[in-house]
Parts: sequence; structure tokens; C-alpha cells
Amino acid sequence: MDAKYVSLCRDWFLDYANRFQSLDPGVEKNIVLKIGHTYRVCDNAYRIAKSVGMGRDDLALAEVLALFHDIGRFEQLKVFGSFDDRITVDHAKLGLKVLNSSGVFCDLARSERRRLCRAIWLHNKYEIPETERSDTVLFSRLIRDADKLDILGVINEHFATRDLHPNSALDFGMKDEPGFSREAVSEILQGKMVRIPVLKTMNDMRLMYLSWAFDIYFPVTLSCIEERGYLTRLMSNLPDDPEIFKVRNFVEEYLAGRKHIYI
Ligand SMILES: [Fe+2]
Repeated sequence: MDAKYVSLCRDWFLDYANRFQSLDPGVEKNIVLKIGHTYRVCDNAYRIAKSVGMGRDDLALAEVLALFHDIGRFEQLKVFGSFDDRITVDHAKLGLKVLNSSGVFCDLARSERRRLCRAIWLHNKYEIPETERSDTVLFSRLIRDADKLDILGVINEHFATRDLHPNSALDFGMKDEPGFSREAVSEILQGKMVRIPVLKTMNDMRLMYLSWAFDIYFPVTLSCIEERGYLTRLMSNLPDDPEIFKVRNFVEEYLAGRKHIYI
């Protein structure tokens, strides 16, 4: 993969995304959000790829992967008016359909196309299967980290301003009630990510995003998350409760352990 192809993909992405411009301010806001998200995920992917010493070809693949990972979001928003995969469609699956029918992958070598498609497919799945081929695992981990890093920033910002600027595409319109789900706490105390079907309140959502720490693979991603205080902000908005104290301790110990490994 060369710089010319990356540049073609950048042009293709912008042209495709611009086709979804809308006169409805609610829709337009989310289109702009997804375009911004994509570019920030490109920056994150490049930073992570550099941190592990990837060469020119793999850096190019990482950028194209980041550009296309959420391409299905545009059609999903247009058709269903929602980003909720549970009630609409798997946006990774939809994205692959869009990309494969566009012809943008036509000139790619078969191995590059396979790695891109597999990593896009896996970017929004709960986990990477243990049976996954090693060459796709690296890029799947990279896009999952780059994506989560940006989403944690977007969601923290949204949680801080949702009363003034509600956006149900980001929080499923969940109520900010004092309670939280025992199931979410139990998942975290087992070192697992909280699954979306468990969510009932905003606190469950905060717990879910906190639990993403367990899925972050690259040390540079964890450092960025820590520098930007994303997890601290989520924790500070959870209620004072003995169960939540256990969660905080568990996550803090987990993060301290990860630092110990990589220093
Ligand atoms: Fe996505």
C-alpha cells in the first residue's frame, strides 16, 4: 500500500461522508461528529502504530483502516436515525457492504484487503476470537484501541454537557438516576467489559466505559487515557457506594498492574 492509495482513500472518504449532509440539525450534528471521530481515530491509529515501530506499509494500512472503520455509521444514521446496533444493524457489517460495493478496495492486494476487512469487522465486537489469524489480530487491536481512545473523550465531553445538549445517539436517552446495575459491577470485578444489554442507567454506562480499560492493549493508549483523565472523570461521577468503591479499587489496581508490566 502506498501514499497515493492512502490519499485516494482520504478523498473517497470525504466525498462519501459529504453525501450524507443533512438540513436536519440533529442528523447533521451526528454526521459532523462521525467525520471528526474518524479523523481523530486516524491520528490515534498513527500514534499507536508508530509506538510499536510499524513501517511505512503498515502505517498506511493503519490509516486506511481508521478512515474506513466506521463508514457504516453514515448509512446507519440515514436509514435508522440511530447509532444503536442492537435495534438497527451491525455498523461494521454495513460498512463492509458499503466498501465492497464501492470498488475502493479493488486495487488492493488480497492479503491487505483481508486484513482491513477482518479488522473493520472486529472493531466493534465484544472480543477478538482466540482463533483469529495473528496478522489480523494486530490490526484489530490497533483499531479497537484507537477507536476506544476517541470515544472515551467524546463520551466524557457528552456526559458533562448532556443536560444542555441532549443527544440520544450517544447515550440511548438513558436517565441519570442514582442507581446502578449489580450485574455491571459484577462484570467489572471479574475483569470483564460490561456488555451493552446490561445497561439500564447512565451510571451503568459510566461503568461500561470504565470497564473498557480491560480491553486496551497498547501501552501508549493507556498512557493517553491516563494523561487525559478519562477514567478518573468517569469514576468521579459514579455514586458514593461500597460497591462502587470496590469497582474503583479494582480498576485502579488493574491500571497500576499494567503500568508495572510496561515500565
Ligand atoms: Fe464503530
